[in-house]
Amino acid sequence: MSDFLFNHLLDDAHQCPIIVNGVACQVPEQLSVAAALLYLGHLANRQHPVSGELRGSYCHAGFCFECLVAIDGQANKRACLTQITPNMSINTALAGVN
Ligand code: FES
Repeated sequence: MSDFLFNHLLDDAHQCPIIVNGVACQVPEQLSVAAALLYLGHLANRQHPVSGELRGSYCHAGFCFECLVAIDGQANKRACLTQITPNMSINTALAGVN
């Protein structure tokens, strides 16, 4: 688990099992996928197609499309608008990189 600004709010949260890039993880159940990825220390989800710059969730409100990930086999889902569910499989475009 990474340092998370609001860790104290999550101390008593029930944990939810998810799979990120093939790795089984536990995260507080009330998080969005974007928040869960940050909670686990995944600051970037993909690389910019031209510059190669690492990109990660930015607005957390559905506007910027920087948070696109594959969820349960469906590509290009906005992580910030998706609530985690038990055993959800999440794949970033950086699987194996971070
Ligand atoms: S973080 Fe901006 S659309 Fe998801």
